[in-house]
Amino acid sequence: MKEVVLGLLGLGNIGGGVWDLIREFGGEVSKRTGVKLVVKKALVLDKKIHRGKEVPDEVLTTEKNDILEDPEIDIVCEFLGGEQPAASMMLRALENGKSVVTANKMALSLHFDELREMAKKTGAGLYYEASVGGAIPIINAIQTPLIANHIEQMMGIVNGTTNYILTRMAAEGAEYEIVLKDAQRLGLAEPNPTADVEGYDAAYKLSILGSLAFHSRVLVENVYREGITKVNSEDIAFGREMGYVLKLLAIGKDNGDSIEARVHPAFLPADHPLARVDGSLNAVYLYGHSFKDMMLEGRGAGDAPTASAIVGDIVQAAQNAVHPMPVMRKDPLPVADDWYSKY
Ligand code: HSE
Repeated sequence: MKEVVLGLLGLGNIGGGVWDLIREFGGEVSKRTGVKLVVKKALVLDKKIHRGKEVPDEVLTTEKNDILEDPEIDIVCEFLGGEQPAASMMLRALENGKSVVTANKMALSLHFDELREMAKKTGAGLYYEASVGGAIPIINAIQTPLIANHIEQMMGIVNGTTNYILTRMAAEGAEYEIVLKDAQRLGLAEPNPTADVEGYDAAYKLSILGSLAFHSRVLVENVYREGITKVNSEDIAFGREMGYVLKLLAIGKDNGDSIEARVHPAFLPADHPLARVDGSLNAVYLYGHSFKDMMLEGRGAGDAPTASAIVGDIVQAAQNAVHPMPVMRKDPLPVADDWYSKY
């Protein structure tokens, strides 16, 4: 059985979710894939504060080099969030030939070229399925099964928090501020909701998806962005009367000589597949010249769906790991004369 040694940067909600999933389901994953996942170290700020069930003390470290510079660690999983120090640590891990698995859309979007170039240079893998759409395998779909397509257009509901708020505003006729406060009380929206409600989170995700789908570089600063803070219940009710549903959409279009990338609230005809994607669900609707249209839908946020995509990436990283050159004895064992002709 192939054993892969992991280092986790961060053991908060997502890191803890990954730890738990490996602990509870890693044995089954091993049976299915022939890959045994072993977490050697997990970086924390304080050894007493972390998520994750029954983490042995020797696994916890407050020293990043215990992970980044340890030659035994094959795969580094980044769960720190934010731009820095996450991006620098991922870069260092790649530089040291370790594959990196991350869900960090901000660090990826802002350092996409740098990270991908380093991965290419050292032959390490960079995996980020969980960065867009949580458990939905959209990144993989665009890069492999749908590669024989010119993807002309994509429209996504890629932020669960805003979809939850808009869904409740539509169902209850309630105002934005009231639903937001309730969502915060229920733990469904962050105490500081700016990244979600102002569309930054969706813009980072569109920058990643667009770069992959359009085989170009969609910089986040070139994504038009408008959040949902100015939407009121009257807008939603008026749209509904006319047969439309309001959603925060991330839209990307390949116009041939230019790319369009924008995040804003938009009315969709009520019979469009995205119009019935409610609550905190995510979905991405694509149009490609061969497959025509397709929609992938699922849970885009939450510890368990995110951990599902991350463990999938870890297994893929392990299976794709470049095998090291065989080490040869200085005094080769004698081989039979006909050895070469046999093989
Ligand atoms: N804040 C994000 C959302 C989490 O609401 O969709 C997943 O990226």
